[in-house]
Amino acid sequence: MKTFLSVCIGLSLLFAPACDDGKIYDEHTSVVREGGAVNLTGHLHGVDSWPGGYSIVLAGFAGTNEYAQTAQGITPAADGSVSMTLQGIPAEVTRVEVCAINKLRKRIATFYAVDYEETADTLRLDMGTVDARMYAAIQSGVFDRSCTACHGGSTKPAAGLYLTEGKSHAALVGIVADRSADSLLLVNPGNASESFLHVMLRENVLRYDHTQIITSANTLQLIDDWIDNGANE
Ligand code: HEC
Repeated sequence: MKTFLSVCIGLSLLFAPACDDGKIYDEHTSVVREGGAVNLTGHLHGVDSWPGGYSIVLAGFAGTNEYAQTAQGITPAADGSVSMTLQGIPAEVTRVEVCAINKLRKRIATFYAVDYEETADTLRLDMGTVDARMYAAIQSGVFDRSCTACHGGSTKPAAGLYLTEGKSHAALVGIVADRSADSLLLVNPGNASESFLHVMLRENVLRYDHTQIITSANTLQLIDDWIDNGANE
């Protein structure tokens, strides 16, 4: 066995796939791996709130590219704890994130991020406790960024509508829209196209035109997917 092992490992330097059954290496053997590695620990909540088509991953991004170069799904334990390693991170990766990506591996929401540079040692990251709910992504990525300036962030909210954290969900879900001629609900859980929030972001139906505020198709899709999947907080 010993002889077979050393021959096999010797050969593997020349013909890597020949011994690639994953079983022949014992602890004396160090496997040469391409790329860097990150070990992630901490607690992650809300992964289950994301519908099919999205994945919560530990991913590497290069520069300003919004598509992950490498990604591995995160599956927290029942108490939310996470302990995992992402290996083979390509050299061009400059940022490592805990994020939601879509089927094309495009970044949809970021929950935790650090700058990255490849080192010989595994980079150890403790993310602490991270809230990865789908609604948390909408609150911070959409409402806080594009809406609260007028809707309750500072003074009187436009149209009486608070889109601030802690208030937005109750103000939207199941509430009849003041400005809807058809008395649509602002958010009709399970039915995005019959929700005024969906309509007014696409059609100029308000005195103040909202159709240029959200221009990313992925962000509009995120809001629709949230509504169609029950509009949970
Ligand atoms: C520059 C200020 C401004 C920003 C930014 C803004 N709004 Fe508004 N919003 C208004 C005003 C003004 C009205 C009232 C329009 C009218 O009376 O027709 C309004 C009305 C609304 C209504 C109708 C409420 C109802 O009960 O019918 C919704 C829904 C709404 N905004 C959502 C949003 C969302 C979501 C965003 C961010 C993506 C946003 N708004 C960003 C100013 C703003």
